[in-house]
Amino acid sequence: MSKYPFTCALVTGASSGIGQEIAVQLGMSGVPLVVVARRGDRLEALAARFKNVEVIVADLSTIDGVAQVEVRIVDSSKTPIDLVVNNAGFGSSGLMHEIDVDRLAREIQLNVLALTRLSHAAIKAMVPRGLGYILNVSSVASFQPSPRLAVYSATKAYVTSLSGALHEELRGTGVRVTALCPGLTRTEFQNISSMEQVAREFPDFAWLETKEVACAGLRDVARGRALSVPGVFYKGLVTVSDFAPRSLVRRISSFATGRH
Ligand SMILES: NC(=O)c1ccc[n+]([C@@H]2O[C@H](COP(=O)([O-])OP(=O)(O)OC[C@H]3O[C@@H](n4cnc5c(N)ncnc54)[C@H](OP(=O)(O)O)[C@@H]3O)[C@@H](O)[C@H]2O)c1
Repeated sequence: MSKYPFTCALVTGASSGIGQEIAVQLGMSGVPLVVVARRGDRLEALAARFKNVEVIVADLSTIDGVAQVEVRIVDSSKTPIDLVVNNAGFGSSGLMHEIDVDRLAREIQLNVLALTRLSHAAIKAMVPRGLGYILNVSSVASFQPSPRLAVYSATKAYVTSLSGALHEELRGTGVRVTALCPGLTRTEFQNISSMEQVAREFPDFAWLETKEVACAGLRDVARGRALSVPGVFYKGLVTVSDFAPRSLVRRISSFATGRH
C-alpha cells in the first residue's frame, strides 16, 4: 500500500533535481505518474523504472506547452489527477539590467504564469470532486528581496503568496495547497541559473539533498500544511526573517547573493 494518499500525480520539471526526486519517491510508493519537462529522453528513462508513467514533453514557458498540460489535468476520460506538483522553474543570477530581458520574460512565464494556469486548471477539476492536493515549489528566496537574483526571488514571492492565499480560499473544499520552500539544494539549478560561483561560497551545512526536500514536500502536502520549509537551518532562517527589520533582511540577502 502507498504511504501517500494520492491516486495519480502530475509533476512538472520531473527530468532533473527536486522534481525528478519527487517523481521517484511517488513512483517507489506505487503512485501512477504524469511527468512533464522538455527533455523527453529523461522522462522516458523515468517511465522505464516504474509502472503507470505517462510522459508529456512540453515547454512550459510557452502558452502551447502549458495548454498541453492543462488538457491532461482536466481530462476526465483518464485517471483523475489528485496531486499536481508545480516544480519546473529556473533563475537568472546577476544585475537585472545586464541579463537578457527575453530570458527574464521566460523565467516569469515559467515560474509564475505556467504555475498559475496549472494551479487554476487543477483546482477547477478538484473542487467538484471534493479532493485534491497542489504542491507549488517556491524557495526560501521568496521571503526577502534578493539582489542579483531579483526577478527570481520576486517570482518565488508570488508563488509563496499565491499558495498561501489559495490554501485559505480552499479551506473546507477538500483541496489543499502547499508552498514548498527549499534552501540551497544540489541540482542543475546552480548551473542553469549561473549561480555556481556564489554557490561555492556557501558552507556544507547550508546545502540540502533532493531526497530531503522531496520527502518533506510530499509529507507536508499530504498533511495539508500551508508551508513546507525543509531543514532546521532554513526553518530558523525563515523565522528570523519574519521578525527582523526589512532593511536588515535586504542587506543580509545582498551579502548572501554575492554583492559584497
Ligand atoms: N536547487 C535549489 O537550490 C533550489 C532552491 C529553492 C527552490 N528551487 C526550486 O526548485 C524547483 C526545481 O529546481 P531544481 O533545483 O530541481 O532545478 P533543475 O535540476 O534545474 O530542474 C529544473 C526542472 O525544471 C524543468 N524545466 C525548466 N525549464 C522548463 C520549461 N521551460 N518547460 C518545462 N520544464 C522546464 C527542467 O526540465 P527540462 O530542462 O527537461 O525542461 C527540470 O526538470 C524550481 O522551481 C526552483 O526554483 C531550487
